[in-house]
Amino acid sequence: MKTIEIMGYKETIIERSDYPPDKIKDILNDEVTGILGYGPQGRGQGLNMRDQGFNVLLGLRKGRSWDKALEDGWEPRKNLFEMEEVCRKATIIQYLLSDAGQIAAWPMVKSCLNAGDALYFSHGFGIVFREQTNIVPPPNVDVMLVAPKGSGLSVRRLFEAGTGINASFAVHQDYTGRAKERCLATAFAIGSGHVFETTFEHEVTSDLTGERCVLMGLIEGAFRAQFKVLRAHGHSPSEAFNETVEEALQSLYPLINENGMDWMYANCSTTAQRGALDWAPRFEEALTPIIEECYDRVRSGKESQIAIDSNSQEDYREKLDRELKAVDESELWTAGRALRPLRPGG
Ligand SMILES: NC(=O)c1ccc[n+]([C@@H]2O[C@H](COP(=O)([O-])OP(=O)(O)OC[C@H]3O[C@@H](n4cnc5c(N)ncnc54)[C@H](OP(=O)(O)O)[C@@H]3O)[C@@H](O)[C@H]2O)c1
Repeated sequence: MKTIEIMGYKETIIERSDYPPDKIKDILNDEVTGILGYGPQGRGQGLNMRDQGFNVLLGLRKGRSWDKALEDGWEPRKNLFEMEEVCRKATIIQYLLSDAGQIAAWPMVKSCLNAGDALYFSHGFGIVFREQTNIVPPPNVDVMLVAPKGSGLSVRRLFEAGTGINASFAVHQDYTGRAKERCLATAFAIGSGHVFETTFEHEVTSDLTGERCVLMGLIEGAFRAQFKVLRAHGHSPSEAFNETVEEALQSLYPLINENGMDWMYANCSTTAQRGALDWAPRFEEALTPIIEECYDRVRSGKESQIAIDSNSQEDYREKLDRELKAVDESELWTAGRALRPLRPGG
């Protein structure tokens, strides 16, 4: 456990060494963990727990996820069951269905909860937007959260690499007096590297804002805008792609990741440094009101309502596939597909 101080703001970081496997096994000794859902998170968290010998069952409906679980070696009636059966057996339910799926399955899950059980989420969505989701756990269960800061594939890959993903944790309801201990033990059982404390509200507002803005939506919009301008001025697709995407991902962003923004600047030409340092405040000024608007829409529940409405439709997957296909077939990403294999060694 480490206390860090960032310009006067003190935070406690809990590390994997604080929760070695034997300690986790002691804490979870009498527990049966039931994971509902085998999307990226269910798969990553479930395999990491299974590999370490924790008592974990998967609860799935028959279909796509069930078939994937079979491919990964989960065995029907041994550690793979229909959802309701797992809900009845488990003392900790890891609720890792899609956020829309959580709404649909909630009446069944709620009916299976016993006093002292723990309900675990990897997102504050269901609880915070309870007026839209109707997910209101009874008062006699623990309610906790571990939110990995990355996709379930990274949860799995970083665990396999022997490191682990950063995650936040929170306790929303502590009926047993053991909620924090159960939460932290589970956080490290699923393969977290280090964890920091949050609340369900902060987790969901930062997460929904982050993915709509810098992590995904904003970056896609910025790539598209610059590629469009360069192409409109007669630059070839490979030049526009290299100056927009390839150099960013292959050269500059890894330097930011390695040692911070100043390190990236320090390794660029003085011409690049001057220009970027001058233009960064222009983008900050232009983007702050848009990010502020997005944050307000997240907090007011408008963004969660859109997500629920669209992801609850029967044909949401077909519609999503069509949208992603359109992205993939745009000139920008067609250029990417043509150029990536030409990377040395690629
Ligand atoms: N992905 C991330 O980067 C990430 C990161 C941190 C936290 N989280 C959170 O982790 C949770 C799980 O997310 P995810 O990305 O792993 O998975 P997801 O793609 O959101 O969910 C997929 C799973 O939900 C099941 N499902 C959906 N609707 C269902 C229904 N009505 N009944 C039964 N099962 C249903 C699917 O089963 P079928 O295959 O049978 O359809 C599949 O197993 C979410 O709360 C998410 O916000 C995600």
